[in-house]
Amino acid sequence: MSTFGKIFRVTTFGESHCKGVGAIVDGVPPGLALTENDIQPQLSRRRPGQSKLTTPRDEKDRVTVMSGTEFGVTLGTPIGLTVPNLDQRPHDYSETDVYPRPSHADYTYLQKYGLKASSGGGRASARETIGRVAAGAIAEKYLKEAFGVEIVAFTSSVGKVAMPFVTDLQENDVVKPEFYDFLNTIDRETVDADITRCPHAETSEAIKEVITQKSAEQDSIGGTVTCVIRRCPVGLGEPCFDKLEAILAHAMLSIPATKGFEFGSGFSGTTMAGHQHNDPFVRKEDGTFGTTTNYSGGVQGGISNGENIYFRVAFKPAATISRDQETTSYDGVWGTLAARGRHDPCVVPRAVPIVESMAALVIMDLAMQQEARRGAIARLPSIDIHHSLLGQPPK
Ligand SMILES: Cc1cc2nc3c(=O)[nH]c(=O)nc-3n(C[C@H](O)[C@H](O)[C@H](O)COP(=O)(O)O)c2cc1C
Repeated sequence: MSTFGKIFRVTTFGESHCKGVGAIVDGVPPGLALTENDIQPQLSRRRPGQSKLTTPRDEKDRVTVMSGTEFGVTLGTPIGLTVPNLDQRPHDYSETDVYPRPSHADYTYLQKYGLKASSGGGRASARETIGRVAAGAIAEKYLKEAFGVEIVAFTSSVGKVAMPFVTDLQENDVVKPEFYDFLNTIDRETVDADITRCPHAETSEAIKEVITQKSAEQDSIGGTVTCVIRRCPVGLGEPCFDKLEAILAHAMLSIPATKGFEFGSGFSGTTMAGHQHNDPFVRKEDGTFGTTTNYSGGVQGGISNGENIYFRVAFKPAATISRDQETTSYDGVWGTLAARGRHDPCVVPRAVPIVESMAALVIMDLAMQQEARRGAIARLPSIDIHHSLLGQPPK
């Protein structure tokens, strides 16, 4: 369905070539200072036509806040967000009236609904993610102001070119300390310094070469986005089915073109022994608990532990390519699809703000759920926590 979240609920709407796309965001706390200026920067980072590495479809993606705010402050009522589709060229897609695009959503949408938007990707288009990004910016603003949460994603690999020390465990099967340092310090300015959004100069240059080559070959290429969530409050995540990493996986795998999700030490952690992989607890200067390593990725038992939350998302090569493809028409005849239109040779640089936005929606909704629980607890007479910890009835 098109709605995500339980308390902070986001419903996106719009197809690739309709009049516009957007979102309705319900459950936004009242009293948050909010204007279009808080939302536009993330939309501009997502928009097409940003660089020679992305699709040339030229959309400005200017957002309008239709409702839910007055004098630049949220009212607690649903916020309507719209972005017009301006640079539509439905004729680019006439070939796809004959052939369903291999590995795109044309065939499955038609089978499921019995009809489909006549041009472009319809709801499966990345234009749908505009609503997510706009809503994510609101969530992020609240999270930053209320808890100091910071969310930063970046391109960690494209094709076989990968950032050192980020993607796989190396050297004696333990994470290198610079990985943790990197997660502590990486910021969006550094990520955006290069059009690849890979914050490692050498890797970024190699990635540029790969994407440029694939583009010249009228082809596409996939890659990964790594994301860190810093200063997430302890206690978020709703076991058993709505564990924090489970909801993150749900959110990330709902982004178009995703093919994989890896949390914390991920698949590499399977090569380690328990004594290496366990994260020892340590009392921090402020008296709270932390861990000396973070293979858990900031979540244990489905609940945030206050350490950095980090994960990686795999994106496939975009399905629409400008070279001829042999495939079968809707009539069942084997032939050649000569694709036209404007396409991303690699979706990864543009996917970076989408990953951040979905992460913000997850943390925001789980924070609201935990706030509701805390509010309910606060209305009870306080219990003796030490007795409870010892398995004894509270005094
Ligand atoms: C930022 C972004 C840009 C995308 N651009 C394109 C594109 O130009 N061409 C294309 O075929 N798919 C593109 N996609 C992916 C399609 O929307 C997606 O592959 C398609 O809907 C099929 O869904 P699936 O890959 O999740 O199965 C893009 C995805 C993202 C996240």
